[in-house]
Formats: sequence, C-alpha cells, structure tokens
Amino acid sequence: MLLDVKDLRVQFPSSRGLVKAVNGLTLSANKGEILGIVGESGSGKSMSLLSMLRLVPKPGEIVSGEINFNGDNLLKKSDREMRMLRGKDISMVFQDPMTTLNPVFPVGEQIREALRIHGLIKGERKWFFSDRKDRERERVLELMAEVGIPSPDLRYLEYPHQFSGGMQQRALIAIALAGEPQLLLADEPTTALDVTIQAQILELLNRINEEHGTTIILVTHDLGVAAEFTHRMVVMYAGLVLEQGPTRTLVEEPAHPYTQGLLNSIPRIEDRRKKIEAIPGTVPDLINMPPGCPFHQRCKYAKRECIGTELEMIEVDKGHQVRCILYT
Ligand SMILES: Nc1ncnc2c1ncn2[C@@H]1O[C@H](COP(=O)(O)OP(=O)(O)OP(=O)(O)O)[C@@H](O)[C@H]1O
Ligand SMILES: [Mg+2]
Repeated sequence: MLLDVKDLRVQFPSSRGLVKAVNGLTLSANKGEILGIVGESGSGKSMSLLSMLRLVPKPGEIVSGEINFNGDNLLKKSDREMRMLRGKDISMVFQDPMTTLNPVFPVGEQIREALRIHGLIKGERKWFFSDRKDRERERVLELMAEVGIPSPDLRYLEYPHQFSGGMQQRALIAIALAGEPQLLLADEPTTALDVTIQAQILELLNRINEEHGTTIILVTHDLGVAAEFTHRMVVMYAGLVLEQGPTRTLVEEPAHPYTQGLLNSIPRIEDRRKKIEAIPGTVPDLINMPPGCPFHQRCKYAKRECIGTELEMIEVDKGHQVRCILYT
C-alpha cells in the first residue's frame, strides 16, 4: 500500500462555526493503481488532496487523522521534510492550468525549474555550469515530448499564453512528472478543457500510469470519467466516504443510494428516451451536521434510524464497502 489515510479531519473556522470540510476520511491507494475520488461540488475532494501535501489553505487546518505514505505519517514530518517530498515523491496537477503556470516565464524554463529544485540533474564537471544546463534542457525536451507537446525545441521558449489550454495542461503534467513521483494527485485536471482534449489528457495520465507504474489519484465530479479511467473508486459526500470498491463493481452494482443516484444522473446518448433522474436537494450544511448518514435528507430509502447513529463502512463484497443502514 502506497498511501493510507485514516480518519482525516479538516476544518475551517467561520463566523457561524467550524466548517467540517473533511470529516473522517479513510481511504488507501495501492501501488500502481488509478484511484478515483468522485463526489459533488463541496464534498471535500480538493481539501482531501491538499491535505496529502499538507497544503490546506489557512485558516483551514488538519485537526486529526493520519496520512501514511510508504508507512510514514506525513502529519508528523517537519516543514522541511514536506518541502523535499512535494514534487519529488508526491506531485499534483490542478484544475486550471492558467493560474498555475507563471505567465512571465517561458514554459520550458518552468519545467527546468522543477528539475533544478530537486537537483535532479547533476553536472559531471561541476565548474561548467553550462554542462548541467544542457542536460537539464535535454531532459525538459524529453518530458515535453513525453506529454505530447509537439516540436518541444521550438516551444521551449514560448510563454504560457502561446499554449492552448490542453497544451498548458500537458506542460503542468510535465512539471508534475519532472521529479518522477510515486504518487500523482490530479484535481479535476480536465474540467476546464473541451471533451476531445479532455479525453487526450486522460489518455496521457493512463499511459503514464501504465509505463511508469505511477500511482494516480484522479479527482473528478464526473462519474463517467471515473468509470472509464480508474481501477478503483471512492465516492465522497460531505467530507466522508460513502462507498468504495473496484470501479467495475461500483458502476455495475452500486450499493449506496447516493452512488445509484449519481449513476442515474449521467445523461446517455444511446438512451435518449430514458429520463435523467436528478438527485433532489443539495449538499448539507457542513457546519451543523447531525450525526448519522449525511445523505439521509435526500435519500429515497431514508428511515428514522439513519439519523443519530454513526455508521462504519460495511463490507458487502470483497473490497467493496458501503456506509448505509440498508446493509446492516
Ligand atoms: N477557505 C475556506 N473557508 C471556509 N470553508 C472552505 C474554504 N475552502 C473550502 N471550504 C469548504 O470546504 C468544503 C470542501 O471544499 P472542497 O474544495 O474540498 O470541495 P470539492 O469537493 O473539491 O468541490 P469542487 O468539486 O467544487 O471542487 C466546501 O464545502 C467549502 O465550503
Ligand atoms: Mg475541488
């Protein structure tokens, strides 16, 4: 197991009280797999990923839990150790490439900077600075080619605004890959792109996973994307996992009413007569959450017992767990 998160809690103070953005998250990622985290807007997906790099924005704070990476609890590491780890062992690709790339530096130089920070290329003759620089440039061109940026040598000195959205996202992936990370966190890496480019970027992530064995956590609100590009899936709601299991199982035999609802709300081209069933209601207020199932107000199977008792995950099949009273 590469990553093992236990009972993680992240809170934001606000004038109305504590916002429980992540509320007891437990999940794990195996070496070499693509794990999908799906859930509606506000369910705590981004805060969960940021926690794994200890980058939760202030005044937010990780208040309890464990994040074990290769057996070491990251919450116990020093700030210096975390800086060494970021971009090297664990790296992250964000949703909006334009806000992550620096507009005033050439794209190639930004990828080179990622190599330099971690001292990944060492010059053989230390007194020749140009030697190291040449090797770095070579590696950058290699990375650019790997992520599918055409004519890397011509584009090395171009600025982010000269890149299309899809090419910018590829450049960010190249930066994320520079340190040859064991774990790549991708937070909605394709939502800002149109569907054809989206498919290409997801294919690229897939190839990286297959060729380098990089473990990937793919966060998406799109269950269709998760169904196609992940091996295992975690369904989050109100900062908590409601169901997890092999992707195939979750798509074919979803156990939790929430997962069933998500699947029924995917429009299908081949089946236009079937009405899309939206899940009624909205995500609950994360400040005053009553104990019990956070989904009960929107659930068509809700019973009185759903409120008041905290439910553990229940194993319904090997590796397939669900947090729902229907399975007790
Ligand atoms: N700076 C903040 N102050 C207060 N609450 C915050 C802050 N940032 C996030 N939150 C709360 O934390 C919760 C989880 O946010 P998060 O960004 O992780 O959701 P998400 O699942 O990534 O949603 P999306 O799909 O919209 O990206 C949200 O309900 C949000 O209101
Ligand atoms: Mg998010």
